[in-house]
Amino acid sequence: MKRIVCVIAIGCLMLCLTECGTPASSKPEKEYSMETMREEVYGVDSLVKLADGTEVTAICFDNAATTPAFKDVNEEVVEKLDTYAYVGQGKGQKSAAVTEFYEEARQTVLDFVHADPELYTAFFCSNTTDGLNKLSSALVTDENDMVLSSRMEHYANDLPWRNRGNTIYAEVDENGRLRLDEMERLLDKYPVKYVSITAASNVTGYVNDVHTLARMAHEHDALIIVDGAQIVPHRAFSMMGNTPEENIDFFVFSSHKMYAPYGGGAVVGLKSELDSHIPEFYGAGIVQEVYDEEETYLSAPSLYEAGSLNYSGIVAMVKAIEILEKTGYDSIQEHEQILLRKAIDGLLAIDGVTVYGDTENISDKIGIITFNIDGVNYTDVASGLADTAGIDVGKGTFGAQPYVFRLLGLPNTVEEEEGSASTPGMVRVSLGVYNTEEEIDVLLSTVRGIAEQ
Ligand SMILES: Cc1ncc(COP(=O)(O)O)c(C=O)c1O
Repeated sequence: MKRIVCVIAIGCLMLCLTECGTPASSKPEKEYSMETMREEVYGVDSLVKLADGTEVTAICFDNAATTPAFKDVNEEVVEKLDTYAYVGQGKGQKSAAVTEFYEEARQTVLDFVHADPELYTAFFCSNTTDGLNKLSSALVTDENDMVLSSRMEHYANDLPWRNRGNTIYAEVDENGRLRLDEMERLLDKYPVKYVSITAASNVTGYVNDVHTLARMAHEHDALIIVDGAQIVPHRAFSMMGNTPEENIDFFVFSSHKMYAPYGGGAVVGLKSELDSHIPEFYGAGIVQEVYDEEETYLSAPSLYEAGSLNYSGIVAMVKAIEILEKTGYDSIQEHEQILLRKAIDGLLAIDGVTVYGDTENISDKIGIITFNIDGVNYTDVASGLADTAGIDVGKGTFGAQPYVFRLLGLPNTVEEEEGSASTPGMVRVSLGVYNTEEEIDVLLSTVRGIAEQ
């Protein structure tokens, strides 16, 4: 038997904090900018051994998978361990400080995505996959609940819905962009309850117009969930649209893709909706009373945070948000577009190279390029880049086989796939704030060398 109770824990907490006091921080505010970004990141000068035994500075172009850490993120984690304590039963000052920090961190996350705190709350999770699973486990209450997703999704935003509800998918066009006409057609035709779409693709880098999609979903009485894993390191995101119909209902992201390893992540969502569902994750932290025959549940965000929270992950996430915001998403985007243009043009100029997606109009792309070299397996291309120049790239289907196969012009059905020697795939170059034009030059000359062999 489950009952949800609304607990005014925050008010009590604030009261306690004014009594207990919290350790003060007197650090001067630091500024961040694109000019100095390279100095802010661990590992940019690391040496790696090539196949011939020589050592070179490693080049990381696999930022869509995970980003290296900001140095200040790590320092912040170490520093904040001084006040680390258990939250919940604890009554000590440190416990109070940590509790206060968690509430501030929730506010930081809400501010980060411009979410009105009257409407939204934020709960912590360990990554986007975890957040989407928690969300889908709560929102989908019947296997016939219809979810509209797309063929450009990462598995994290496909399998949790596919395995819980009745999920249908909008197709992409010949360039790999999401077909809004398909979204509209499917919304018209089926009683869709939820639309779940990525903000940006991890394969082509396309940024979806999620506010238009929100309007379309709301016009059909559906709610919209946005996978924010790839957008957060590259572009500012807002839950709020130009009109309330364009507001996003749920947004999920991981912090290891924004220079903050330590396993942080968050889900921002409509309080009213989160409070009217219960996720399939049970344990301490989400209940108020547990009697022999029934239990009472707390409201969101606690309801979604069974077990102990990941203190270091949340500290790291908050610091990364600060650094990215101070650096400025406009500057990040400007830098990235320069590198993207240079990389795409350079790759297209190499005989035998195919670049996937739209290579002309790139303003709606984050810094991701996928390509292949005729006659060379993508695994060999990736190995060649590592062995001869210390370049780390992504390879394969990037947790998005349906999309990658469509871009390759291949059928993605079980029958077609049976008996094939190896899974088709691509090479992916994904950019971070610290990558340089010189690194793109090394990439291009190395790809040329592989293509000419
Ligand atoms: C678009 C997209 N969504 C979700 C995920 C899953 O993220 P995580 O592994 O942090 O859960 C990824 C990971 O690459 C991604 O690119």
